[in-house]
Amino acid sequence: MWVGIISLFPEIFGPFLKFGVIGRGINSGLIKIDFWNPRDFSGDPNGAVDDKPYGGGPGMVMKAQPIFSAIEAAKKERGSDLHVVYLSPQGSPLNQNVLKGLLEKRNILLVCGRYEGIDERLIERVVDEQISIGDYVLSGGEIAAMVVIDGVSRFVPGLLGGETSAHDDSFSDGLLEHPQYTRPFSWAGRSVPDILLSGDHQKIADWRKSEAIDRTSKRRPDLLKSRTLTEKERKILNKNIEISNE
Ligand code: ADE
Repeated sequence: MWVGIISLFPEIFGPFLKFGVIGRGINSGLIKIDFWNPRDFSGDPNGAVDDKPYGGGPGMVMKAQPIFSAIEAAKKERGSDLHVVYLSPQGSPLNQNVLKGLLEKRNILLVCGRYEGIDERLIERVVDEQISIGDYVLSGGEIAAMVVIDGVSRFVPGLLGGETSAHDDSFSDGLLEHPQYTRPFSWAGRSVPDILLSGDHQKIADWRKSEAIDRTSKRRPDLLKSRTLTEKERKILNKNIEISNE
């Protein structure tokens, strides 16, 4: 997968790209990341990339032209069919489905804003998709871009140990993930649920599904509402409700 990043502060990404899943992906060639800095395209003797907002108000707005030229440079190098994503609190909320959609695009260009945002005309002209990582305002799109890169990388085939693990993550089937345990068997006076040591794969799978449904219904009932439960899952949910009412 190829990801281009348009940012005034590419240094922010340094350690993030070196470690863990992303670091491995880059070293093995499964992920490639390139940067373009709008400051290199400012066309201004002072390197200005922002200016005061028309109509007044606090802060500065990023000028359209330097970002446009940076995007053009990326397209010249990588081809014109790049999927241009602007990270913005006004975008669609990010979730596992949005990440899977980005993976299918294969070549994505993440535009990171700063200050009070970007001149609207740039967004109208070149942005294909706007993504928000939550209902709060960050001081720039870089952290949001890292969130997107991390999340989408987990779906790149061959990157995680088990080919299917990202698809088993919380949310991938519309449910929170079941709890996980590792050794020692007993810790701080609490032991691991016996069923996980039974060796019965079907029973373990059923228990995990039941836990996933239980915690989703308690912690994120909104997820259950937007998902159609199978007959078996509905039975599990009803049984869990009966038990908690006892
Ligand atoms: N830039 C600033 N705030 C953001 C958010 N919540 N999501 C994505 N990009 C942003």
